[in-house]
Amino acid sequence: MPSTNQITLNAPLDMHLHLRDGEMLENIAKESARTFSAAIVMPNLVPPVSTKEEVTAYKTRIMNAVGSETFTPYMTLFFKPGYDKAFLASVKDDITAIKLYPAGITTNSEGGVSGFDVEELRPALDAMAELDIPLCVHGETNGFVMDREAEFVSIYEKLASAFPKLKIIMEHITTKASVDALDRFENLYATITIHHLLITLDDVAGGMLQPHLFCKPIAKRPEDREALLKMALAGHPKVMFGSDSAPHPKHAKEACGCAAGVFTAPIALQLLTELFEKNSAPLENLQAFVSGNAQKIYTIKVPQKTVILEKKAFHVPADYKGVVPMYAGETLAYSIKEVRHG
Ligand code: DOR
Ligand code: ZN
Repeated sequence: MPSTNQITLNAPLDMHLHLRDGEMLENIAKESARTFSAAIVMPNLVPPVSTKEEVTAYKTRIMNAVGSETFTPYMTLFFKPGYDKAFLASVKDDITAIKLYPAGITTNSEGGVSGFDVEELRPALDAMAELDIPLCVHGETNGFVMDREAEFVSIYEKLASAFPKLKIIMEHITTKASVDALDRFENLYATITIHHLLITLDDVAGGMLQPHLFCKPIAKRPEDREALLKMALAGHPKVMFGSDSAPHPKHAKEACGCAAGVFTAPIALQLLTELFEKNSAPLENLQAFVSGNAQKIYTIKVPQKTVILEKKAFHVPADYKGVVPMYAGETLAYSIKEVRHG
């Protein structure tokens, strides 16, 4: 992307987003809905979203919080091995994907999967493949924190070969090991966050500890970030932008025992534009990364929305209703100039 004063993005999509519930949902949903056309909404509420009633009621609460913005929440269920084909068929039209969490691996994931026994998972995963419901996976073991994702690659491989018709999305990948796995299996895809394209563990813990950059999976090594960047900047067809924007109240982040999650929803498109420009990557690759690839992978039709960004300083607020964003108080190179609906 040559240095430019203005760029236009069509129908930006956030393929991994935490919108929470209650007051937090009311406070932050518009920060995504203002600039994104649609988003895959994570189900890790308390209790997790796992029934047809819960998913439809949650969607209604999201639509109410979003108000008049043009924005489609693509809903997900929290994966349980007990889901059977009749249940999945009954809920298929209410959801876009199902999210699998290893038990206890991150915020509100206690009810997730332990052990990855293919035969135990077979009924649910065969049914999902047949019904064409993608499986989104938080791929971390409970090993050493820097090795968790790389250790999980063998589980991805086991699932990808046991269920070749199932679309498996490796969520928020952070390692070269995951990038390398993408090419080995036709049915593996991935989302990448903006923070993992920008930071390494050094930014989190190399100097004074930065709680607002602490997330799961933790940011990794420079060579990992390079591998992610290469995929994103190339607009590689198997990777999609998913912010994993995960708001927590300031007191839960600036605490002894800091909650995991980076809040990027209001600055994601500005940061992506700056990143692609800085690396001289073509605008069409950014468009593919933030929308086109996801439309093809998920075979979704998206609401039209045109976002115009201009090269003009944007001062990131100290907080959005009590939630501190990434780069709070700092200045970004691009601002949102205009959003056109339809
Ligand atoms: O950092 C994270 N925060 N990673 C996750 O996987 C979950 C998320 C959250 O819900 O707070
Ligand atoms: Zn997440």
